[in-house]
Amino acid sequence: MSHQPVESRVRTTLPQLHTWYRAGRKLVMTTAYDAVTARIADAAGVDIVLVGDSVGNVCLGFENTLPVSMAMMNHHLEAVARIRPTAMLVADLPYLSFHLSVEDTLRNAGGFLQRGAQAVKLEGGAKRLPMIHALLDAEIPVMGHLGLTPQSVNPMGGYKVQGKQKADALGLLEDAQRLQEAGCFSLVLEGIPADLAAKVTEIIEIPTIGIGAGPHCSGQVLVFHDVLGLLPGGSPKFVRRYAEGFEDLRVALASWAEDVRSGGFPDGRESYTLPEAVRLALTQWRP
Ligand code: KIV
Repeated sequence: MSHQPVESRVRTTLPQLHTWYRAGRKLVMTTAYDAVTARIADAAGVDIVLVGDSVGNVCLGFENTLPVSMAMMNHHLEAVARIRPTAMLVADLPYLSFHLSVEDTLRNAGGFLQRGAQAVKLEGGAKRLPMIHALLDAEIPVMGHLGLTPQSVNPMGGYKVQGKQKADALGLLEDAQRLQEAGCFSLVLEGIPADLAAKVTEIIEIPTIGIGAGPHCSGQVLVFHDVLGLLPGGSPKFVRRYAEGFEDLRVALASWAEDVRSGGFPDGRESYTLPEAVRLALTQWRP
């Protein structure tokens, strides 16, 4: 199987995404937070790049996503958008950016679109419907996010698998239906049992994108740094690492440091040369 960079793709649009979904193609989404991660994700041929508010804990050193502001999201979105990814670009509405008023929500989400995003994602079920309606009225496509919603870390009492109790599972099915009816184009299902995610995927007609939600979703999303093993320490159960990025990059950087200290770097290959006449003039010059 070849994993060559994908050349000359056209930009993925919402209708294209739905065509792939209806054709039974599994959708692939990963996060990107800057031009480097966006270039790698895009060259790998993922379908959707999400500028996630996970930037807070993955890149900015916060304990959770709650301190992530619109200013931070805009900064990272702009960096990703500048590389003009061919993948569909979705931006995550951070905590408090869609809770205060419809006007505030529209300004924040509209600002994402003006910066190059094609859609926004927001966490939460039916109680978010007024904001979702307003966004869709303003031509802003919305991806929902149900289950383990990291912005609810306090009421959830930590990052725990959701929907294990009957009432919660049925509530999630209801939320999924209501978000679909409202017009969400897709739903992220995070941290829920595989059977529940399978049921949601069966009863709705928009793609479900799972993370820690088993194999029956219409697509999968993992955080870029998790797939590539870029964070120190172990990974949660739902992650599969396809590289040991942290360790491989640490070893590479340590080799460079060793070469610098031993005088092995740089050598002639990494140095610029003077024209012979100038070099001679330099050697003959005396103060
Ligand atoms: O912020 C994020 O990275 C996300 C994905 C994990 C879905 O919301």
